[in-house]
Amino acid sequence: MAEVKLVNVWKIFGGFVAVRDLSLEVGDGEFLVLLGPSGCGKTTTLRMIAGLEEPSRGRIIIGDKVVADAERGVFVPPKERDVAMVFQSYALYPHMSVYDNIAFPLKLRKLPKQEIDKRVREVAEMLGLTELLNRKPRELSGGQRQRVALGRAIVRRPKVFLMDEPLSNLDAKLRVKMRAELKKLQRQLGVTTIYVTHDQVEAMTMGDRIAVMNKGILQQVGTPEEVYEKPKNTFVAGFIGTPPMNFIEGTVREDGFIDFGEFKLKLLPDQFEVLQEANIVEKTIIFGIRPEDIYDAMFAQIKIPGENMARAKVDIVENLGGEKIVHLRIGEITFQAKFTGESKVKEGQEIDVVFDMKRAHVFKKENGEAVF
Ligand SMILES: Nc1ncnc2c1ncn2[C@@H]1O[C@H](COP(=O)(O)OP(=O)(O)OP(=O)(O)O)[C@@H](O)[C@H]1O
Ligand SMILES: [Mg+2]
Repeated sequence: MAEVKLVNVWKIFGGFVAVRDLSLEVGDGEFLVLLGPSGCGKTTTLRMIAGLEEPSRGRIIIGDKVVADAERGVFVPPKERDVAMVFQSYALYPHMSVYDNIAFPLKLRKLPKQEIDKRVREVAEMLGLTELLNRKPRELSGGQRQRVALGRAIVRRPKVFLMDEPLSNLDAKLRVKMRAELKKLQRQLGVTTIYVTHDQVEAMTMGDRIAVMNKGILQQVGTPEEVYEKPKNTFVAGFIGTPPMNFIEGTVREDGFIDFGEFKLKLLPDQFEVLQEANIVEKTIIFGIRPEDIYDAMFAQIKIPGENMARAKVDIVENLGGEKIVHLRIGEITFQAKFTGESKVKEGQEIDVVFDMKRAHVFKKENGEAVF
C-alpha cells in the first residue's frame, strides 16, 4: 500500500506552473528520492505534501487520509498530517541544549516527562549524540548539528519523513558519511521517506527509487538501476551519470549502420529491428553512449574494425588515478570516454576506440524519447 500518493497534482504560482500534473506513489517504508535541477519543483512538491503549500489542482493522500483535494476544497493543516520535515538550513534553538532541542516537539505535544526522557535518550543513542546532550548547538560540528535536527524529526515518530537537501550544508567528506548513516537509520526506523536532492550521486546511493523531475514535470520513476540503464529520455540519460552520457546525432541506414558522417557504427541485429519497426530508418536520431562504455581498443574484448571501432584524436586526458576521463574527437564530433587506469593514452595522440554497442541507446530526435 502506498503511504504517500499524489494524484494529478499541480502548483501554479501566478501564471507560472511550478509542478505540472504530478502523479506519484511512495510505498510504505520506501526511501524515494526526488531528483532534478534547481527550480524543477522539488521543494514545492515536498511543501505540498507537508501542507505548507496548497495544490492548485489534484489530490494528496497520506496513509488512508486525503490531506489535500483542490477540487473538493479539502486541506488538512501540517500539524495534523503526521509528517516531519528536515530542511537544508536546520534551525536549532541556539539557547537550548541538544537534549531540549530534541525534546521540543514532544513538549509541544505535552507528552509525560518520563516518556519524553525515554524517547530523547533512545534517539540520541541511535544518532550517537548521547555524550553531547548537554551541549548547545554552537558547541557542535556541522554534522553533529545535522544529526540533532534529524533527532528532532525522528523523536516524533512520524508516519513520513520529508527531507529537503538536508546534507547540502556539510563538507564533501561528512556528506558521504552522513549519507550512509541516514540510509541506515531510515532502514532501522522503516519510516516512509521522501528525500529531495539535485545531487545525482546522492540519489543513486540512497534511493530505493528515484523520481526525476525537470521543469515541473516528472520524467521517470524507477530504481537507481532502471533510471541509469533504461533512461526514458535524453534528459534523464544526461542528468544521471558523470561524466554525462555522450549524445551524437546520426542517421540510421538501410544496411544497419548509424552514419555519423565522420564515422559509422554497426547496430546489433535486434537494435536495428527495433528501429525498423519504429520506422526510424533513413532518419536522424540521437545516439547515446556512456563514457564508461567506450574503451581504449588496446584493452577492449570485442573489436571489429569498421563495425564498433573508430579512430579518434585525444584532446585532453584527466587522470583520476584509478581511471582516466579522455576527451576525444573524430573530425568535428567530440565525446568523452572513461578508460581504466591501465590505458596509457596521451593528449594529441590518435587512437582506436571501441564502442560497446550492446550498451548503446537511441533517442528520437524530435522529442528526446528513448527508443532503447
Ligand atoms: N512562492 C512562490 N511564488 C512564485 N514562484 C515560486 C514560489 N515558490 C517557488 N516558485 C518557483 O517555482 C519553481 C520551483 O521552485 P522549487 O523551490 O520547488 O524548486 P527546487 O526544485 O526546489 O529548486 P532548488 O534545487 O533550487 O531548491 C521555481 O521556478 C521557483 O522560482
Ligand atoms: Mg529546493
